Amino acid sequence: MPDRYPRLRSCLRLIKPYIPGKSREAIARELGLTDIVKLASNENPLGPSPLALEAIGHHCQEIHYYPDSNGYNLREALAKKQGIKKEQIILGNGSDELIGLLTQAYLQPGEEAVTIYPTFSEYEIAVRKAGGTITYFPLERPDFNYNLDVILSHLTEKTRLVFICSPNNPTGTIIPWQKITQFIEKLPAGLLVVLDEAYVEYVADPGYGCSIRLIKQHFPVISLRTFSKIYGLAGLRIGYAIAPEKIISDLNRIRDPFNVNSLAQAAALAALADEQHLKKSLRLVEKGRRQLTQGLAAMGLAPIPSRANFIFLDVGINSQKIFTQLLKKGIIIRSGDIFGFPTFIRVTIGTEQQNHRFLEALAGILK
Ligand SMILES: Cc1ncc(COP(=O)(O)O)c(C=O)c1O
Repeated sequence: MPDRYPRLRSCLRLIKPYIPGKSREAIARELGLTDIVKLASNENPLGPSPLALEAIGHHCQEIHYYPDSNGYNLREALAKKQGIKKEQIILGNGSDELIGLLTQAYLQPGEEAVTIYPTFSEYEIAVRKAGGTITYFPLERPDFNYNLDVILSHLTEKTRLVFICSPNNPTGTIIPWQKITQFIEKLPAGLLVVLDEAYVEYVADPGYGCSIRLIKQHFPVISLRTFSKIYGLAGLRIGYAIAPEKIISDLNRIRDPFNVNSLAQAAALAALADEQHLKKSLRLVEKGRRQLTQGLAAMGLAPIPSRANFIFLDVGINSQKIFTQLLKKGIIIRSGDIFGFPTFIRVTIGTEQQNHRFLEALAGILK
């Protein structure tokens, strides 16, 4: 086919579009199934906090008004919770939007971002959209551990952003906070570390979430967080970032004024206050992780020890086959080929019943 648009930005053709987890509606439409379990996008199987639902109901009456462009109430609550200033917080239409703002703000065409491999694919998409290049540093096998010294020794004059996801999607592994701190202390000037902490609430280690401490000490770090995971608000699209004030002020210059809708702001504010729902969600994941690990061990499978609400494991055969066969049984997971690991699968930890259904189906397929 002749290229009819040769003058449009050719760098965009290098972008592999993001592949989202299959939705329940898509499977219902494509396969005519009704009883569908989605364990593909690391959502909270308990759903949102009842307080968030109540807040949404209340605010529905007011959706003819534009939302608060500054997200004042939510930023104030977040600042209080983290012991920082609200000027150190920006809200986003999901943390995905914030990843895009960061590359738009800080990457010129030809400049570089570095990250680990495998990891969340949005970093590469955002970097390429900005005309930048991305360099990957593989996690160390067999346990998918981070080697930050290798990253440090490969930084160049063109490197501007370092994306570190911890717990990492899809491996579920974390970097010990002492290692992050040492890494950041050794970084040359002029770089920004983007610590993607979408799953940080699942990590029980004391000292974890050290990004806040580093930001308070004015290190060039931005922490990305989301209400899509443990807070159960993925469908409303709301995330936030914490960083030194200068970075937040840069991002605010290029943010759309009404980027976070009013229902999302109200729901997030209520969800933040619901400690009980948070604890219940955390307990469910801890219990489910044990259930899945034991069930998989009974099949001779050993998942990578995960600190998040999903697990990544080698099934030893082409995982597309497992994906398709599970789909036929109404169970949606992610096959590892999208992360470059064609014999791995990633499964979100569900309710006890959902986990049981997945284990039973997988055992049947592998038999
Ligand atoms: C590591 C990581 N960061 C960011 C996101 C995006 O979160 P949000 O829904 O806030 O855009 C995800 C979603 O899966 C993720 O896994």
